[in-house]
Amino acid sequence: MALPPGPRLPAAIQTARLLMRPVPFMEDARRRFGDTFTFHVARVGRLVMISDPPSIKRLFAADRDNIVAPGRNAILEPLLGPRSLLLLNDAEHLSRRKLMLPPFHGERMLAYERVMEEAAEREVARWVPGQEFPLHPSMQAITLEVIMRAVFGVTEEHSDDLRERLLLILGATRSPMALALTAESARRLGAFRKVRRAIAESDDIIGAEIAERRADPELEAREDILSMFVSARYESGEGMSDDEIRDQLMTLLMAGHETTATALAWAFDLLFRNPKAMDRLLAETEGDEHEYLDAVAEETLRVRPVVLFVGRQLRKPMELGGFDLSEGTVVGPSIWLAHTREDVYPEPYEFHPERFLNGGADTYSWVPFGGGTRRCIGAAFAQFEMRVVLRTILRMVELRPATDEPEEIIRRNVTLSPRHGTPAVVSRRRERVPVAA
Ligand code: HEM
Repeated sequence: MALPPGPRLPAAIQTARLLMRPVPFMEDARRRFGDTFTFHVARVGRLVMISDPPSIKRLFAADRDNIVAPGRNAILEPLLGPRSLLLLNDAEHLSRRKLMLPPFHGERMLAYERVMEEAAEREVARWVPGQEFPLHPSMQAITLEVIMRAVFGVTEEHSDDLRERLLLILGATRSPMALALTAESARRLGAFRKVRRAIAESDDIIGAEIAERRADPELEAREDILSMFVSARYESGEGMSDDEIRDQLMTLLMAGHETTATALAWAFDLLFRNPKAMDRLLAETEGDEHEYLDAVAEETLRVRPVVLFVGRQLRKPMELGGFDLSEGTVVGPSIWLAHTREDVYPEPYEFHPERFLNGGADTYSWVPFGGGTRRCIGAAFAQFEMRVVLRTILRMVELRPATDEPEEIIRRNVTLSPRHGTPAVVSRRRERVPVAA
């Protein structure tokens, strides 16, 4: 079966463009070929991009028939481990997902509100009024603290040791050489020895935390996600092994830390360039409402999606975007292209949180968290964290941008990130507004 048309450049050049200038590359292909086209990507092969909502809906609805795109495992498995939710397929994936979902349900998020506020408050206390600083690293510090406390539930005793190791690991995954972490040659040459030692040491700390919980008669009273994993049972009655819990915690760290920090940095950049939206939001944060705040988060994730596209490999033939695709085809719903459709979002490149007032986003044209049975399990957690962190910061300080130009979008590993980390200045500290219970 013929694949949809696409650029004719050699795979190496297409891959380089996709990696170096992902957004213009996608936009250019849409202009030339329409909603559906084929890229040729090194290590993955032909990749069919789709972006019309009905096709995205059909693909996600068939998730149980498909598997994650090849490439994910090669890159992530050495770090996340073989049982990671991100990497498994079929029954192995579904049973784990079922076990891991309950702590991520919307209403459970309230339990993490204070942790999120405290992490933001502690970071803001470090900011020096009048001094320029990039917001993105600060957001990374906040989201790391939140994961360590809400997800790992790390005890005070292990907190500094674990943070130090995780920072080293995360630093390595951000480097352009990150792929070498997984390469056999690098392993032999001893590259990344320090990082591998940090992984082993953080595994030991996590192991100690798990052992402590297994011995705790009051385990049910604990609210962190690790404790819930320790008490969770599969349908067979068995629980997760220590190794599996470790893999899932690393998965949640890798999937949830940088993504949420990046979304927060984008929210500030967009608010800086849209003073009317900032003013409306500031007025709202004086009270307990969060309707506009949530719309700001949704619009941020639409116009600056953190992830460019997701991937599936078809195990059955399927019609998508008007093309009959055969079994084995790798399909990528393009989040960027779905979010910038003029027919769904008038003035698609403009930041208008108002479009999400009076009714949330549409499931298949707003897909920052992917979809189907692989939809991000941290979506409610991330959106709640955006709400709490934005509100806490805006209540504590008045921020202004340190540059006149909006941030340029660049790729950092799998995230679309602000090039300069959103430089900002605290113009003044506000009188502390009591935080709503
Ligand atoms: C703004 C923040 C975030 C964004 C934009 C984001 C985006 C995504 C995307 C696009 C996927 C792939 C979905 C698919 O293939 O259809 C995903 C999967 C996943 N995310 Fe997130 N994510 C965010 C935050 C989080 C957080 C906070 C956590 C957990 C603490 C998390 C945990 C996961 C996990 C475990 C998966 C794999 C789900 C599966 O394969 O069943 N993410 N995320």
